[in-house]
Amino acid sequence: MNRLILSQKEAESSNLIDKLSACSGFRDRARARKFYFRQSDFCRRSRQLRRKESTQYKIKFAVHSRLTEIRTSSKPCDEKPFFLKKSSCKVRRNGIFFPPFLYTSNKQNHGSLQNDFPNLGQTMTAERNYLEVNKHSWNNRTDAHLKSDFYDLDGFLKGKSSLNSIELDLLGDVKGKSILHLQCHFGQDTISLGRLGAKATGIDLADKAIESAKQLAKETRVDASFICCNLYDLPNYLDQQFDFVFTSYGTITWLPDLDKWAKIIAHFLKPGGKFIFVEFHPVVWMFDDNFEKVGYNYFNSGPIIETETGTYADKSANIEQESVCWNHSTSEVLNSLISNGLEINSFDEFDYSPYNCFNKTIEIEPHKYRIGHLDNKIPMVFSVVASKKY
Ligand SMILES: C[S@@+](CC[C@H](N)C(=O)[O-])C[C@H]1O[C@@H](n2cnc3c(N)ncnc32)[C@H](O)[C@@H]1O
Repeated sequence: MNRLILSQKEAESSNLIDKLSACSGFRDRARARKFYFRQSDFCRRSRQLRRKESTQYKIKFAVHSRLTEIRTSSKPCDEKPFFLKKSSCKVRRNGIFFPPFLYTSNKQNHGSLQNDFPNLGQTMTAERNYLEVNKHSWNNRTDAHLKSDFYDLDGFLKGKSSLNSIELDLLGDVKGKSILHLQCHFGQDTISLGRLGAKATGIDLADKAIESAKQLAKETRVDASFICCNLYDLPNYLDQQFDFVFTSYGTITWLPDLDKWAKIIAHFLKPGGKFIFVEFHPVVWMFDDNFEKVGYNYFNSGPIIETETGTYADKSANIEQESVCWNHSTSEVLNSLISNGLEINSFDEFDYSPYNCFNKTIEIEPHKYRIGHLDNKIPMVFSVVASKKY
């Protein structure tokens, strides 16, 4: 377990307070010092409370991203950021949501901090800084994913497709089709589409993932191209329209604005082109990691800021990352597409996931997973096919 909170003496003798003072606009060291100790005390009390529930938590210490610089420069004293939340944010640590008072309703603490430091909250928050946070988190996962059984790189290099029957059925014959693959991660699905004869272009935010995707395309000798950028910025990088736009499993949760997402899809589709979308069902994201409690809104109620140890593809991987995500209801998905000129051709829901990436699963048939105790009671995946008329 990381060392979490320094004692007053340790903090004084480390250069943390000097760094805090230098990087975050405190008028002088005394104010930075006061700020630090008030926050340590807040964290210490939170930790005591949480310890009663579980010992696995690691408290992160920072105040908004005022401490992003500390995060990268604080290795000697092993401080880690802790986000003092805006009240609209929910906080999860390792899939367990925290009592909101620890983070969001500690108004007294937050309020008095804001009196002392009026800029607090106006600096970049994790929410505003979400692209940087998520890019780091996906880069951080990439190596573990490349080595994981989940992504079965060996099998893939030997020719195994990474695509599942749900999307293969919707895509149909892709031979000769141009396909834009949004949020392609390290490119397995993009290359699988290439192997089926499509001319596929994958795009993703994480540069490490895109580097690996390019390397894999070379190794497999598949003609696929890759672009590293934020999805919303894609028109600055690409000037082409496609027969299909495709995206799947674990994508829209990283995007705050589905209207902007749908605009990108409409922009890159040829008239008559099709959007093929397969995604985890928003009902799945309402639960805690063990599917014991409903802890999250079905509807988008603002950013959810999470710290995860391990990763869905290898839960024991020795990595830890923060991320910012959003829940999106199916009506939000469908209406964003409709209001951007797309016609919905089909919408389906599935009572299994083709990926074994959740806790408490059972395999009901090969490559079909359900949450054991929920059986077929919840939808786990949905799909949409939509077309651009003109
Ligand atoms: C779960 S993965 C993609 C799923 C893919 N089916 C897979 O398993 O390989 C989500 C991907 O979205 C990317 N991503 C997150 N936010 C993004 C953004 N704003 N623009 C582009 N890509 C983004 C991440 O880098 C990550 O590679």
